[in-house]
Amino acid sequence: MNKNIVILGTQWGDEGKGKIVDFLSSNSAYVVRYHGGHNAGHTLVVNGKKIILHLIPSGLLYPNVIGIISNGVVISPFELVKEIEMLEKNNYFINERLFISESAPLILPYHIAMDLAREKKLGINAIGTTGRGIGPAYEDKIARRALRIGDLKNTKELSIKLEVIVDYYNNQLVSFYKQKSISYKEILKDLLKVKDLIFNMIKDTSTILHKAIKDKKRIIFEGAQGTLLDIDHGTYPYVTSSSSTTGGVITGTGIGPKHLGYVLGITKAYTTRVGKGPFPTELFDEIDNYLSKKGKEFGSTTGRKRRTGWLDGVALRYAVKINSLSALCITKLDVLDDLEEIKICISYKDINTSKIYKDFSVFNLENITPVYEVHPGWKEKTSGIKRIEDLPEAARNYIKRIEEIAQIPVDIISTGPDRSDTILVKTLFF
Ligand code: GDP
Ligand code: IMO
Ligand code: MG
Repeated sequence: MNKNIVILGTQWGDEGKGKIVDFLSSNSAYVVRYHGGHNAGHTLVVNGKKIILHLIPSGLLYPNVIGIISNGVVISPFELVKEIEMLEKNNYFINERLFISESAPLILPYHIAMDLAREKKLGINAIGTTGRGIGPAYEDKIARRALRIGDLKNTKELSIKLEVIVDYYNNQLVSFYKQKSISYKEILKDLLKVKDLIFNMIKDTSTILHKAIKDKKRIIFEGAQGTLLDIDHGTYPYVTSSSSTTGGVITGTGIGPKHLGYVLGITKAYTTRVGKGPFPTELFDEIDNYLSKKGKEFGSTTGRKRRTGWLDGVALRYAVKINSLSALCITKLDVLDDLEEIKICISYKDINTSKIYKDFSVFNLENITPVYEVHPGWKEKTSGIKRIEDLPEAARNYIKRIEEIAQIPVDIISTGPDRSDTILVKTLFF
């Protein structure tokens, strides 16, 4: 097997991907964000200091790591520059080691205005997007009218294209959504201000990555969102607009499947979801309050309260299949420390016919209720534990049961937000 690692979420996002990407980056040369945009919020904690990244790959806190934002990502140049400045303020300098694909579509103010206007119009049927313009930006890409990072290189062409597309959006924003119109001149002025700051980063990132593969450098591909938010395989229409599963790495970077290596599925020890949509194991009781509070389950991007629920083994098996996962990383085990008992959903039962389903189907989530297996809690502190043998027996049994349900090993366990609060069950660096 080659040395590369894909790290992605198996649930509805916020599984702790950023923390694990950062943890594994010390042994890697490149870290690549390959899809999504600044809807992501990846939290890294190093020696108690917290950094939240939305667009910049989570490996860049290590000074030797090179970051790539590849063609599958939709990029707000304004957010990118803000994030680079935030990192500089925190003494992380990344200017010479961040490259962005010339083919990546731009997120511009009209995408954000459209995202917000649509959500408003949908009312109670809104998706609960992050309001970052993600859906409209991917629509432009598929409709072949997007402005791309490479367009920043030619100001005259950029101005012409921008005028046409702003006109197209103003028609909808003003006539249909009754919103204010947008000035293409303002956008152009702002783009010209940031353009020079990122100009030297614009590259053919696929070529850079192929060279890295040839030179036998390790690459980490950093997923955003999660399997159940994937545009094809998620709980449609309550999904994001990109491919957050393994397939997204291939189209999102220009790197073929034989180079992907090990695929690690990040799985929270329970489940959370932000925004609307089905959630079979959702809790509405005091356990929800407990998980929310102890797990600090508030969005890293929008600050919204995350919905919480038990671990869903049916959905987990689905994520194992869809992504060809090699192994799991279980995060936030410590959040379960004070519970008397812990449940895992092992199948779904049809509420009308009592038929049992062991397989996840996005078309069959409305009339089912979860069937749970109950495990004893360990009622002991696990936060900060670094060796599997130091975990209480009940916690080890919980992990073992997850391995049986998923039919793949758990190679990493996370016991706290800090980079160092991590158990490496198996040496990953083959
Ligand atoms: P991501 O989007 O998948 O990178 O995850 P987020 O950063 O949005 O959310 C995960 C949250 O859990 C962040 O606040 C992390 O600092 C925190 N976190 C990650 N791993 C652990 C863990 O093992 N235990 C605890 N208590 N917190 C963790
Ligand atoms: P990370 O990478 C959790 C959710 C939104 C909404 C749906 C569509 O931090 O795990 P969008 O703005 O993408 O059109 O919203 O997807 N969503 C996320 N939920 N974590 C994320 O990213 C998310 N990115 C999008 O809440 O339900
Ligand atoms: Mg997040």
